[in-house]
Amino acid sequence: MAGCLAMEAVLLVGGQGTRLRPLTIHTPKPMLPVAGVPFTVHQITRARDAGVTRIILGTSYKAEVFREYIDANDLGIEVVIATEDVPLGTGGAIGHVASMLHSGPDDPVLIFNGDVLSGVDIAGLVNAHRSADADVTLYLTRVNDPRAFGLVPTDPHGRVTAFLEKPQSEAEIVTDQINAGCYVFRKSVIDSIPHGRPVSVERETFPGLLDGGAKVIGVVDPGYWLDLGTPLSFVRGSCDLVTGTAPSPAVPVTGHHLIDPTATVDASALLTGGTAVGAGVTIAAGVRLDEVVVFDHAVIGAGAHITNSIIGSGAVIGADCIIDGAVIGDRADIGRGNELRAGVRVFPGAQLGESWVRFSSDRS
Ligand code: GTP
Repeated sequence: MAGCLAMEAVLLVGGQGTRLRPLTIHTPKPMLPVAGVPFTVHQITRARDAGVTRIILGTSYKAEVFREYIDANDLGIEVVIATEDVPLGTGGAIGHVASMLHSGPDDPVLIFNGDVLSGVDIAGLVNAHRSADADVTLYLTRVNDPRAFGLVPTDPHGRVTAFLEKPQSEAEIVTDQINAGCYVFRKSVIDSIPHGRPVSVERETFPGLLDGGAKVIGVVDPGYWLDLGTPLSFVRGSCDLVTGTAPSPAVPVTGHHLIDPTATVDASALLTGGTAVGAGVTIAAGVRLDEVVVFDHAVIGAGAHITNSIIGSGAVIGADCIIDGAVIGDRADIGRGNELRAGVRVFPGAQLGESWVRFSSDRS
């Protein structure tokens, strides 16, 4: 498939900042390592393998972090970084890069949201756009519970009929199709986005196109889709990349776990469910990690059982801790025997003494 598209793409990687703060405040979320490489790399390499030859990263903050990585790593595709002085919103960020694109006015340009992990058939989306001679084509996904999302109903020919805000009642749930955060724009549509002020694609650009009679189509793709909007969905995405449930060319070998070669893992430790272990991590005897992301230089004490959680960089987890559905911030120090559950977030550098926090009743 490589090379068949030979087109440009825009990847939106920065608005107000990362929603994973305060877990880790030094790195924009798209550059957090996920399954061994920055999240952005999974998206860039998927686009590259679909035949995208040039990609523009649009960001409004910490551009230097992106630039440093891109300069130091050859991803096999031209990557250009575009920086907004102030966040321009999703539509504004797309409009901001119009003059940097080489595409002609009728050419299709791919747009990717930087916080979505997906297995969308990129070439198929572009083909659908070309066959329909559309102005904009949206990748749609179906969700079981659409209440948390803007809805995108389509007619029997795939034409988008409306962009509806999050439904407030059952009657307003007219479809289970939602905007999945990847689009194909006719280049001239990008040129028409107003400059110099924030613009939202969902609230302004797309409804404006419909009102003006533009041809906007939706393509429902049944493949893998995940919005990485919360820390625990970040864990889900990481595990799915490691196990291969979410496809990425940047994860050449998939399995039960991914362990950085510089980590020290005791032979009796059990790492399952797509657990990812970063550089310099130490894992002691009898530890069980199921669906966990352990960032660099964390230390996990003997007998700790951790599920569905993030362990921040340099955090220390004492022996026999039980941690489930938790986010442990960078450099936090959790004393022996604590029990942390149910979405709890421990701030960076916080210290918990031995057995300070328990959920279950004391047996002794
Ligand atoms: P709208 O309703 O159109 O504003 O979209 P949204 O609220 O669904 O946008 P969301 O905040 O989910 O962001 C979607 C993607 O666009 C993410 O990858 C963000 O990092 C990126 N993004 C959001 N705002 C901006 C911005 O001002 N500038 C840039 N460069 N990217 C942005």
